[in-house]
Amino acid sequence: MATAKSFSTPILFISFLLAGSCLSSANETKIKANVTIVNGLAYGFYRYICPQVEVLVRSYLRQVFSRDVGQAAGLLRLHAHDCFVQGCDGSVLLDKSIERTELPNLSLRPESFQIMETLRQIVHSQCGPVVSCSDILTLAARDSVFYTGGPDYAVPLGRRDGVTFPRPNQTFEDLVAPFAKTTEIITKFARKGMNAIDAVALSGAHTIGIAHCSSFSERLFPNRDPTMEISFFNILRQVCPAPNFNAATSLDIRSPFRFDNLYFVDLMNRQGVFTSDQDLFEDLRTRGVVISFAANQLLFFQSFAVAMTKMGSVEVLTGAQGEIRSRCNMRNSDNINDLVSVVEKDHMGSSFAMR
Ligand code: HEM
Repeated sequence: MATAKSFSTPILFISFLLAGSCLSSANETKIKANVTIVNGLAYGFYRYICPQVEVLVRSYLRQVFSRDVGQAAGLLRLHAHDCFVQGCDGSVLLDKSIERTELPNLSLRPESFQIMETLRQIVHSQCGPVVSCSDILTLAARDSVFYTGGPDYAVPLGRRDGVTFPRPNQTFEDLVAPFAKTTEIITKFARKGMNAIDAVALSGAHTIGIAHCSSFSERLFPNRDPTMEISFFNILRQVCPAPNFNAATSLDIRSPFRFDNLYFVDLMNRQGVFTSDQDLFEDLRTRGVVISFAANQLLFFQSFAVAMTKMGSVEVLTGAQGEIRSRCNMRNSDNINDLVSVVEKDHMGSSFAMR
């Protein structure tokens, strides 16, 4: 873990990061993060069995986001919540998973789950049931970043979908609460194999999307959090006149719909929405990273691609582990109707066998 000293000079930090985590040009225009890919994942994993998967996902999301760009934020967050709890195995998509009923997941957007199932239908109708929901979600998160103006990075694929549910309270243990301070953030990210730079870069996802009053009311009531700038406090108090008032505000006041580095400028102006956001600037271990990202959007984009690739590799199932779900919201063993119809298709000579 980096020390406060190593982050105290932004310029030194920038050189260090560029040397250590440089990105090379991938196939076509995508950047490929210089991260060791875990066994079983590969760039171009679906080259032979579903070469059009990335085009299918991207073109459907283009339609979705042209109607409502907010859905990009929902999908990006859904991927993070999937990966932090029991790895990127699509468990958060399961209707029966206890994680769906636990507080941190109650504000996931219902539309995100519908979009995921539509994407699966599109992909499986073209290729058969060979692409996992966890891979589709990883691509959807990447495309959410791309379509809102962020980096376009290559994604290693080959994840399999989980067949087990997380245990009760695991979402509370693995996800960071919005009232958490940097020590807890660094600890929880480290448990998933990510460092403090990754934590700051991934918090930069809050450059898009919204938050409800209940997620930051401890900063407004009974008194203003002293680390919140006064005019920003006044704006938030107008949106949230009472602690659990049912309203929402943008996470990035400067450019709410654009994936850029202005979230870090917000933090430097003490206009971060959550304690977990603002404390990244208050804490000297991470302040230098925040300043570097605020000063250099390219550096933020490169670091974000690295951190997303790491997050997308957390505890993944590959090879013969798990399964390819025939519906994203159900394990195949809970989905008897679809299994029967696939077996029937096989008898009739279809090439779509369940894997
Ligand atoms: C320090 C860790 C993090 C904390 C404490 C945190 C907390 C939260 C909370 C409380 C919300 C708003 C919930 C609501 O009130 O509706 C939110 C929204 C969001 N989070 Fe995070 N988050 C963290 C990390 C991440 C990561 C790693 C990503 C993605 C890479 C992410 C992406 C988002 C996005 C895009 C939204 C907006 C969602 C929407 O508009 O529907 N967050 N986060």
